[in-house]
Amino acid sequence: MPFFGTGDDADMTHGPLPLAGKVALVTGGAKRIGRAISLGLAGAGADVVVHYRSSGTEARALVEEIRQLGRRAWPVEGDLGDPACASDVLQLARGSAGPVDLLVNNASSFVGTRLDMVSAAELHADLDINAIAPFLLAKAFAGQEREGAVVNLLDARITDYDAQHVGYHVSKRVLFALTRMMAVEFAPRVSVNAIAPGLILAPEGKAPSYLADLAHTNPLQRHGDPADVVDAVLFLLCSRFVTGQVIFVDGGRHMRGSMYGC
Ligand SMILES: NC(=O)c1ccc[n+]([C@@H]2O[C@H](COP(=O)([O-])OP(=O)(O)OC[C@H]3O[C@@H](n4cnc5c(N)ncnc54)[C@H](OP(=O)(O)O)[C@@H]3O)[C@@H](O)[C@H]2O)c1
Repeated sequence: MPFFGTGDDADMTHGPLPLAGKVALVTGGAKRIGRAISLGLAGAGADVVVHYRSSGTEARALVEEIRQLGRRAWPVEGDLGDPACASDVLQLARGSAGPVDLLVNNASSFVGTRLDMVSAAELHADLDINAIAPFLLAKAFAGQEREGAVVNLLDARITDYDAQHVGYHVSKRVLFALTRMMAVEFAPRVSVNAIAPGLILAPEGKAPSYLADLAHTNPLQRHGDPADVVDAVLFLLCSRFVTGQVIFVDGGRHMRGSMYGC
């Protein structure tokens, strides 16, 4: 049956799309939130291509873990800072796994830079990794000319202003715009949605109290867990009728005022 069903009355089951047997590619899928997404997809019955750049050891260990769950899995390496690499990553994934049904653009660089300090090279680097590479991957994915679903990882702060990470902030806003453009352009075969996480995991190197200290910045006054992101990713990948949507997984942080982090 086609990915989204045929639309015939007999086919309108209205249940979520089954992920069992689908092939998923998760960029930056070896660690942290990406690892949780890879495992969540495997738990839902999908086979998983775990993309990595520097975390080869973790990627190979995760691939073994997924195989132990009875799913197929493959590691794929690539530096998404090089735009030419994005379509190569999809080709490598297809070479191992065959056609890819689900794409999760999770990989991201999170470099601290303020507006008065940021250089053109730093802006370009963040744009390449956080916006251009996800776009080129999704474009190559849509070029497979088969039905499928894309989820892009944004950030809850796209609605206001992250003054400490200017290149990251700009690039996530560009990816937000591209998400909506791709949702229109890649329809009807491919759905394109996004998740905008809030406080989920502390950036590497931060104090253990980081999440607890910032919990007061969102209306629910707590921090989330990678599992909260996984739930939302799976919902979007399984949906028959949602595209161009952003789900904020942030305890309501996006409804607060701007200038957080100044
Ligand atoms: N953590 C949070 O609370 C939070 C909050 C808001 C939004 N988000 C978003 O959610 C997603 C996951 O967050 P996270 O904190 O788990 O991400 P992360 O640890 O900062 O990065 C995820 C992975 O991105 C990969 N990556 C970085 N630069 C790359 C490059 N040039 N080429 C290829 N891969 C590259 C790295 O893979 P290797 O390790 O293999 O190099 C890294 O493990 C990100 O898109 C992030 O912006 C997270």
